[in-house]
Amino acid sequence: MTPQDTPVALGSDHAGVALKATLRAALEEAGHPTFDMGTNGPESVDYPDFADAVANSLLDGTARFGVLVCGTGIGISIAANRHAGIRCALVHDATTARLSREHNDANVLALGARVIGPEVALDALRAFLNTPFGGGRHERRVRKLTPEWSLR
Ligand code: RB5
Repeated sequence: MTPQDTPVALGSDHAGVALKATLRAALEEAGHPTFDMGTNGPESVDYPDFADAVANSLLDGTARFGVLVCGTGIGISIAANRHAGIRCALVHDATTARLSREHNDANVLALGARVIGPEVALDALRAFLNTPFGGGRHERRVRKLTPEWSLR
C-alpha cells in the first residue's frame, strides 16, 4: 500500500498541537493524505472530543490510520479505545510503535507531547506506518478484542 493509498487522520488536545503539526508535516511530506480533526490552537479543550473525531474517521472509512496526541497520550488513547474496532496504542518509542502494528494490528497511534520529543515521535510514526500486522497467532488474539470487526 502506498502512502497515497493510506490516509491518516490526526487529532490532539491543546497540549498536542505543536507535535501534531510536526507529525502532519511529515505525513504530507511522505505523500499521505491527511485529515486534521483539530484542535489547532492553545485554548484548553477536552481530549475525548478529538479522539472521537479521529476514531469516527477510521470507522467511516475516511482514514486508514489515526494519530492522537495529548500531554501524556493517556487520556486520548483511553477515549479512542472506547470505540469498537479502534485499537489505539500509546507508545513511547519506535519499538513499541512497531510491535503495536506487528502484534496488535493497532490502527491508531497515541503519543504524549509532554513525555517524548519530536524526533522520537517521528521515529515512532515511521515505524508504525511501515510495519505490517504479523497475523498468525496474533490474528486470533486481535479477533478476540472486537469479534464483529473484520481485520483489514
Ligand atoms: C491536559 O492538561 C492533559 O490532561 C491532557 O493533555 C492529557 O495528558 C490527558 O491524559
